[in-house]
Amino acid sequence: MIKKILVVGMSILAFTFASYAARESHCADASKGGKQNGAGALTVVGFSQVGSESDWRLANTQSMKTTFSEKNGYKLILKDAQQKQSKQIAAIRDFITQQVDYIVLAPVTEAGWDNVLQEAKDAGIPLIIVDRMINTSNNELFTCWVGSDFRRGGEVAVRWMEKNLGNDKELLIAHLQGSMGSSAQIGRTEALEEAMSKNPAWKVVARDSGDFTQAKGKEVMARILKQHPRIDVLYCENDNMAFGAMEAMDELGRTYGVKGDTKIISFDATRAGLTAALEGKINYNVECNPLQGPRVEEIIRHLKKGERPEKLSYVDETSFDATVITRDDLDKRKY
Ligand code: AHR
Repeated sequence: MIKKILVVGMSILAFTFASYAARESHCADASKGGKQNGAGALTVVGFSQVGSESDWRLANTQSMKTTFSEKNGYKLILKDAQQKQSKQIAAIRDFITQQVDYIVLAPVTEAGWDNVLQEAKDAGIPLIIVDRMINTSNNELFTCWVGSDFRRGGEVAVRWMEKNLGNDKELLIAHLQGSMGSSAQIGRTEALEEAMSKNPAWKVVARDSGDFTQAKGKEVMARILKQHPRIDVLYCENDNMAFGAMEAMDELGRTYGVKGDTKIISFDATRAGLTAALEGKINYNVECNPLQGPRVEEIIRHLKKGERPEKLSYVDETSFDATVITRDDLDKRKY
């Protein structure tokens, strides 16, 4: 009997000690770097996303979710700003209050970030910018940036136009822009502007923003088509607006693509965009790569080791011509 009591007593003692030790080590991990964000051993990443305006954006969000999963040692706090900068600023302030370990920002526009970024810096939280860039006089306000070279993407598109549609004959162009003030819109628009100045036979007869959404792309294109019986080229700053524009053209019986009257240039080259190219509906599609999660994680791993990652890094991108694209290109597409 005494032996039994001793065994039970010892077991209770051992269990109590083990729980205490586990709790202590958990607290030690949580307080590494002085953070009290309640995530234990997980690294907390606050991600302020622009919204869910396009297939590209959904793929970008998914890339972050997959990368910063609990199984990979992270806790992701995702905030969708519904395309509003004010919501992004509020999200960053909330991340600061929650004492996240890292902040990732996909900025909706380029301007207006200095104050809130200074607040994150003062709180000692590294801030990584993804996708679009910001316009700041102080590059020390962010740790790193990973994204696309939008201007280069636009230049690739206009070079295709020069080569395939010619620069000596008149081209009437409709230009559907993305969200005004975003790097994606600014870079793609600048490239077209520069090409216009070199090719006097090219004329932009209509230009408006479709805010990177399919619904707005359709609405704007329907208006343009009613005013312009002839459009030779649609320079469309993303796939979703191109899908909306195609719907508007279908409804009015206007033809487009490889065999049609209006040639379509688009950006993103998402799976749906490549499908449209394979079907001959989009003539040329310039890739914008949304799979940025692994690149951000690589930066975080460097930072954790006290290393200095590259300040600016570009994702890999290519482009697709409807007359060259293959089924294999589409099958390889991950987004
Ligand atoms: O910033 C990337 C752009 O934003 C993509 O081209 C577009 O589809 C997205 O919404």
